[in-house]
Amino acid sequence: MEKVCYSVGGRRILRDFDLHLEMGVNRTILGVSGVGKTTILKLLLGLLQPDSGRITINGEALAGLPDRELARVRQRIAIVFQGGALFDSMTVGENVGYRLFEEGKLSEREIERIALEKLSFVGLEHAIDLYPAELSGGMKKRVAIARALAAEPDYIFFDEPTTGLDPIGVYNIRNLMLRLQEQGQTTLMVTHDLETAFAVSQRFSFIHQAHLVFEGTREEMMASQQPEIREFFEPGERSLFTYNNGEQET
Ligand SMILES: Nc1ncnc2c1ncn2[C@@H]1O[C@H](COP(=O)(O)OP(=O)(O)OP(=O)(O)O)[C@@H](O)[C@H]1O
Ligand SMILES: [Mg+2]
Repeated sequence: MEKVCYSVGGRRILRDFDLHLEMGVNRTILGVSGVGKTTILKLLLGLLQPDSGRITINGEALAGLPDRELARVRQRIAIVFQGGALFDSMTVGENVGYRLFEEGKLSEREIERIALEKLSFVGLEHAIDLYPAELSGGMKKRVAIARALAAEPDYIFFDEPTTGLDPIGVYNIRNLMLRLQEQGQTTLMVTHDLETAFAVSQRFSFIHQAHLVFEGTREEMMASQQPEIREFFEPGERSLFTYNNGEQET
């Protein structure tokens, strides 16, 4: 993303926002609730269009791409949504293989083999014939990760992957993300879970009131004296309602 501006409902969500994903690196976007983190993911997927600025995926600009081309570029990206966003009427295996099935390039047998392989990566091969309603929240997220992996994407986006999970669930997700790291997968995460972010991320982008106020390593971020960053890591009495009241400059 280069100098991306985006407004919705008369409110400026992003102003001159820059974001660069290095291959093989995990980057985390940090910022208070409602600041626009999920919006950034949607812009990168081409689900929303910026007012100005440039978004390129693998060197290809999203703006002006016809739908079919956009779909092709989008196939290089997988996203793990907060709730998992599984199809309730399909089994776990069908959910994982769904995208490959839609592409219509592989046989059913081959798709089932890949689904099983990806499910075993997340430790859920035994759940292949279950329906999402039969899974816990943590299991659903793991299935969503297996589904993301099935299409062998260049990039995987995680929107709050650990929110709402117990410590074991958080540990599992963190472990999976670390293993993706070891495999050289490029990932982008949005989270409030600082422990997970620090465990798996090499780079951080911090967004505050529509602006990118920090980009760099954990050490650089922790050493930063910028007030909005200090406030985020050490909230005090004075932070009550000051940073999260929806009032942003326009
Ligand atoms: N269709 C819309 N109309 C008006 N405002 C919207 C619309 N969609 C999103 N917004 C606003 O855009 C802002 C950014 O939303 P976004 O979901 O990107 O925040 P977020 O940083 O992901 O928050 P959270 O951490 O709570 O998930 C929010 O304040 C939201 O109210
Ligand atoms: Mg969000």
